[in-house]
Amino acid sequence: MIFLWIIAVIVVILGLSAFMGAPYVPSHARQVRRAFTDLRPLTPRDVVVDLGSGDGIVLRQAIDHGAKRAIGYEINPLLVWISRIVSLRYRGSIQIQTANMWHIDPPEGVTIIYVFGVGRDMKRLAALFDRWAAQTGRDLECLIYGHALPGREPAREEGAHRLYRFTALHQSEAQV
Ligand SMILES: C[S@@+](CC[C@H](N)C(=O)[O-])C[C@H]1O[C@@H](n2cnc3c(N)ncnc32)[C@H](O)[C@@H]1O
Repeated sequence: MIFLWIIAVIVVILGLSAFMGAPYVPSHARQVRRAFTDLRPLTPRDVVVDLGSGDGIVLRQAIDHGAKRAIGYEINPLLVWISRIVSLRYRGSIQIQTANMWHIDPPEGVTIIYVFGVGRDMKRLAALFDRWAAQTGRDLECLIYGHALPGREPAREEGAHRLYRFTALHQSEAQV
């Protein structure tokens, strides 16, 4: 009986996550590696944020490829715990929080935001990045896997990844 309850809780948690945003599908490790080496090589100054961090693959790749810190926000508590466990050896450089990405503020020092894009969220994501650039007063680079951001020109592309730049200046121009 307890086994059935556990299965039911897992199904509800996964279903709710899919309803709230992108369902859990990990980025392709080889493509993430190429994004962090060829498309936007990481440096020890980089703080990478993954919005909807899943099992944490992007966070671990970010540290492996030279980022100073990597922060994941994930709505599914089950995935938060799994990703914390599989990222144990990165303790100190990877941080994973249970959070709804639409309701957070940009973390201190963020330089790159990574998102596995889903069609229905793309317009809302562009607005979120504009707000974060204005809030931090700094330029932000966004690596999007999958879908393109509507009405925005990527600075570079590599495979399924696109790199976009959001500037605080762009935001203040948009408000004039
Ligand atoms: C397509 S997976 C990508 C996982 C990881 N970023 C990667 O590229 O391997 C999307 C993840 O976003 C999470 N998610 C969906 N909506 C979310 C929200 N509003 N806030 C935080 N995480 C969310 C899902 O639970 C899922 O784990």
